[in-house]
Amino acid sequence: MNDSKNLAVLFLLLLVASTAMSREKTDAQTGLIIDQGFETVKQNCTACHSARLITQSGATRTGWKESIRWMQKTQNLWQFPPETEKTILDYLAKNYAPPHADGRRAPLVVDKWYRLDVRASKQ
Ligand code: HEC
Repeated sequence: MNDSKNLAVLFLLLLVASTAMSREKTDAQTGLIIDQGFETVKQNCTACHSARLITQSGATRTGWKESIRWMQKTQNLWQFPPETEKTILDYLAKNYAPPHADGRRAPLVVDKWYRLDVRASKQ
């Protein structure tokens, strides 16, 4: 067999293997990734809105916690017992982390801001 054919076959096999491995199992009904805590999240987080609000988001644990607090303050989301909240946050932080967690660079840290003087530019 010629070498380039072998390489092409190998490449295809690798491609198939890698896509198969990267595909997590998701719940057909909600689209949520099936992992530890999934049932709790499905029960508590899809009562008012589609799970797409979750599956389209990515946040750190702190970010998810803030989201939950915001809903509790302003959207009538109920309070969770601490263990339930931990299960939910563990699940979200692991499965819906910010996009850069899968290999992209971390966000830039801006340590110097300047004041934009809008009035000056209007003259
Ligand atoms: C009591 C109702 C209710 C429940 C239960 C609820 N939410 Fe929400 N959530 C809302 C409302 C209302 C909005 C605003 C929707 C809009 O702007 O269209 C919202 C918005 C969101 C958003 C988008 C806003 C943002 O912060 O970026 C996310 C993400 C979210 N919810 C995640 C969750 C998660 C995770 C849970 C489970 C812990 C949950 N929600 C449970 C009412 C609820």
